[in-house]
Amino acid sequence: MRIKRVGVVGCGFMGAGIVQVCAQSGYEVTVVEISEQILSKGIAAIEYYLGRGVEKGRISQHDRDFARSRIKGSITLEDVSDRDLVIEATPEDMELKKKVFVQLDNICPGHTILCTNTSCLSVTELARATNRPDSVIGTHFLSPVPPSKLLEIVRADTTSGETLEAVKDFGRSLGKEILVAKDTPGFIFNYLLLALTGAAVRLLENGVASAEDIDKSMALGLGHPIGPLALADFNGLDVGYMVSCAMYRRSKDPCLAPSVIMREMVESGRLGRKTGEGFYKYKKEK
Ligand SMILES: NC(=O)c1ccc[n+]([C@@H]2O[C@H](COP(=O)([O-])OP(=O)(O)OC[C@H]3O[C@@H](n4cnc5c(N)ncnc54)[C@H](O)[C@@H]3O)[C@@H](O)[C@H]2O)c1
Repeated sequence: MRIKRVGVVGCGFMGAGIVQVCAQSGYEVTVVEISEQILSKGIAAIEYYLGRGVEKGRISQHDRDFARSRIKGSITLEDVSDRDLVIEATPEDMELKKKVFVQLDNICPGHTILCTNTSCLSVTELARATNRPDSVIGTHFLSPVPPSKLLEIVRADTTSGETLEAVKDFGRSLGKEILVAKDTPGFIFNYLLLALTGAAVRLLENGVASAEDIDKSMALGLGHPIGPLALADFNGLDVGYMVSCAMYRRSKDPCLAPSVIMREMVESGRLGRKTGEGFYKYKKEK
């Protein structure tokens, strides 16, 4: 199946990056938000990053303008009803995502593939909320989307081989390397990431080593660009804690058990970089 027109639902942090990458790869993109104000903010972020690409010589002014001209914003979901593929990038909330999928299923033609950018929710559960479970699939983009080399595709129990192949081709056309995972809690990337973070937090909790030394062991020992505790601070401890709780609820896998100190840090507002304190202390950013 040839995908030409793409829809994105949600123009937040991930949605904006997905829109940018699709438009730069030649797709016509319609992005839908819940209000004009949030939509303008999302589109402004895309324009900012496209502009930065020009400043840094990564793209030409012509390519920037051409990419921008392919992006349309809307606050009406019906405006994605002519799309070949729609990617949902709304917050990580199963009931909200199900509602969006049911609406998309009602308004999109039979050939439209419906994708979710969920980090850890069941893609199969979302697929089964629609009348086209064979055409529903997970497209887990990693952040930040434009420079990330990977696209993790999550095959729901119901996803057809045809849908999988079409989405693999689509992902490659965005310049991404493709990973394919079964629909399990956290898929590949978040399972490994959360298991590593959990183990690093347990070492800290048990007084085995300092945060600096735990991070150094992975950064210098395995060549990770950043240690697991510093990365958890960077991503936001509230986000990490919420994802690990959701994955643990689904799997009961002890590797994913949410940590007590992370819960305490979240409850006391120490959320990492964004609040100036997490596993490390940070100078206030402008
Ligand atoms: N943030 C990350 O690092 C990251 C990485 C990979 C995957 N994800 C996943 O991507 C998804 C989006 O995350 P995010 O960080 O971009 O969240 P975000 O909060 O930045 O953006 C979500 C956007 O969806 C909009 N929205 C809510 N309901 C909507 C609706 N009914 N119709 C249209 N728009 C709606 C919100 O207004 C918001 O702008 C989540 O499932 C998250 O788990 C996030």
